[in-house]
Amino acid sequence: MPHGSAFPARYAVFGHPIGHSLSPAIHRMFGEQCGIALDYVAIDATPAAFADAVRHFLAGGHGANVSLPHKAAACALADERSAAASRAGSANVLTRLPAGRLAAHNTDGSGLVRDLTGRQHCPLHGRRVLLLGAGGAARGVAWDLLDAGVDQLTIVNRTADSAVALAGALGATRARARHWQDLAGLGSFDLIVHATSAGVLGQPLPLPPGLANPQTIGYDLSYGRAAQSFLDWARGAGAKAACDGLGMLVEQAADAFALWHGRRPDTDPVYAQLRGSAA
Ligand code: ATR
Repeated sequence: MPHGSAFPARYAVFGHPIGHSLSPAIHRMFGEQCGIALDYVAIDATPAAFADAVRHFLAGGHGANVSLPHKAAACALADERSAAASRAGSANVLTRLPAGRLAAHNTDGSGLVRDLTGRQHCPLHGRRVLLLGAGGAARGVAWDLLDAGVDQLTIVNRTADSAVALAGALGATRARARHWQDLAGLGSFDLIVHATSAGVLGQPLPLPPGLANPQTIGYDLSYGRAAQSFLDWARGAGAKAACDGLGMLVEQAADAFALWHGRRPDTDPVYAQLRGSAA
C-alpha cells in the first residue's frame, strides 16, 4: 500500500485487444508472494486513445505495462527512457515519476534471456541464433541476445530492408541480415527466435526444415494459439525443444515488478501455476 494511502497502489496493462491478458493474474500472484497489496487491471485502449488513456491512468496510478500494439507509442510519449527502451524504440513498462513525468523501460529482452538461460536450459554464449522478424518484438530482444554473448545473430525478415536496418542499428559484426528467400541455404541454428506477428495474425510462415537440427531450440515470443504454428514447425523440423513465450511473459513481468516494488519475486511458482492452468 502506498505510504499515507488507505488504498493499494494502482497498476494496469494497456493493449488492444487485452481481454485475455495474464498480466493482472501474474502481478496479483507476485504481490501475494511478496506481501505487497496492489490493484492491477487490464485496460483496452485503441491506438488513437492510448496516449490520453495511459496519461489519465498514470495521473493516479503508479505504473503500467504496455502490450501490443502500443509499445512504440509508450516509448515515444515518455519523458525519460531506459537504455533498453531507447535502443529498442519500444517500451513494455511505464512508471510514474515525480511531477507527473513518465519513465519508459523495456524488460522484454531481459525476460527472454532469463527464461532461455534459466528455465529452458539454453545457454546463449557463443551460440548461432536466427531471429525471425524485424519489427517491435524483434527489436525488443535483439540487443539483449547480443549482450548475452550470442556469437552470430542472423536476422531474417519478410521485408529485407527492416532486417538490414535492425542489423545496422545493432552495430555489431556479430549481427547480420539475410533474405527470407535465402533461408534454406543458411544451415541450422542453435536457437531460432520467432518474433514475427504471423502467428498472431493467423498467417502462414513458410520455413525450410533444415534450419533446425536435433540440438536446436525453437522459441516463439508469443504463447497460446499465436505460438502454435511455429512450435509445430519446430517440432516437425526435428528441434530438440519448442518453447512458447509464457516464461518470457512471467520474467518480463517480474522485472517490471522489481522496478516498481524494489523486489524481484520468485517466478517459478507463478510460471508453474500458469502452465498448469494452461495445460
Ligand atoms: P510486433 O511489435 O509484433 O513486432 P510489428 O512491429 O508490426 O509488430 O512487426 C511485425 C513483424 O512481423 C515484422 O517483422 C513483419 O514483417 P514485415 O516487416 O515484412 O512486415 C512480420 N510479419 C508479419 N506478418 C508476417 C507474415 N505473414 N510472414 C512473415 N513475417 C510477417
